[in-house]
Amino acid sequence: MKEINVAVTGGAGQIAYSLLPRLVSGETFGKGVKVNLRLIEIPQVVEKLEGTIMELIDCGFDETGNLLATADIEEGVKDADWVLLVGSIPRGIVIDGKKIEERSDLLRINGGIFTDQGEAIGKLAKSDCKILVVGNPANTNALIGMTKAQNTGQQWFAMTALDANRAKAQLAIKAGKDISEVTNMVIWGNHSPTMYPDPYNALIAGQSAADVINDENWIENEYLPLVQQRGKAVIDARGASSAASAANAAIDTVKSVESKTPEGDWFSAAVASDGSYGIPEGIIFGYPLRSDGNGNVEIVQGVELNEFAKSKIEVTTQELKEEKEAVKDLL
Ligand code: NAD
Ligand code: LMR
Repeated sequence: MKEINVAVTGGAGQIAYSLLPRLVSGETFGKGVKVNLRLIEIPQVVEKLEGTIMELIDCGFDETGNLLATADIEEGVKDADWVLLVGSIPRGIVIDGKKIEERSDLLRINGGIFTDQGEAIGKLAKSDCKILVVGNPANTNALIGMTKAQNTGQQWFAMTALDANRAKAQLAIKAGKDISEVTNMVIWGNHSPTMYPDPYNALIAGQSAADVINDENWIENEYLPLVQQRGKAVIDARGASSAASAANAAIDTVKSVESKTPEGDWFSAAVASDGSYGIPEGIIFGYPLRSDGNGNVEIVQGVELNEFAKSKIEVTTQELKEEKEAVKDLL
């Protein structure tokens, strides 16, 4: 049986609880592929992972391989084919008497985690390892990790699939269509309130979603803020940040990278900018992507951007440049 090594940080957290069974069930990497899972946690929490491992065994999936719990990042990522960097502090919680409200608050707290992890991945994970950063602020954490990894064969992604799923769902609801009819969604830029979910290039049954909806006021004043602020709305309503939908988006991203993108469509994730669409190199930027199903992912070229899109993309680019400046001592 083919085997794949997958490492997950934050293995005892709430996203991981939804994520882990789906990684080893055959759903993500396919039936007939054994998934060896390494769960990585901070030392204070690592013992709890024994309970998680018991549950994964008790699921009885044919595809579940070796299960390991560790507080040692080097042990966890050694020979990894995929690393899912989920472990980090979510906003909405109180640290030293201060409620962590915005992603910028998380920059300093979480950024430091990704230096050691990046180094370990660069040194010990497979040379074609794929890394998905979920922990916020995801784009800049990915930049820190990728910079420290210094391994050009490996490919780093920051997750925007949750935003893309949210953006598709709201278009479907507004248009009274089934979500399966919504394709070609791209989240340009940062996984933050400056993101630009693109309704002009998204399609509903093959037609521009913006044309189908035909309501610019709704797009600008309701749709964009709703998608951009959805994470906060969930935190406010649930008292905890999105977990099931975040785990689902992580699975979607892995599947999108692992399988050939359907003809004419694309998927959304943030990758290192190569200058495409005039975005400066040196930041991790949300783009439309395609995979050939053999591990090669490319940025889709030639997507048309109207003036409205360009102005939104400028804002999110600026924010990413500022985030980079704020963590420059970690790079
Ligand atoms: P959580 O607090 O439930 O779990 C996080 C876990 O990470 C904890 O168990 C913690 O002990 C662990 N951890 C912290 N530092 C670690 C380290 N250095 N190594 C290994 N593990 C470590 O949080 P959660 O709800 O699972 O969310 C995790 C992260 O994902 C947060 O940063 C959250 O903001 C982010 N998130 C991102 C998206 C997205 O779309 N990109 C969506 C939802 C949540
Ligand atoms: C989300 O988008 O749900 C997460 O990034 C959590 C958050 O802080 O918004």
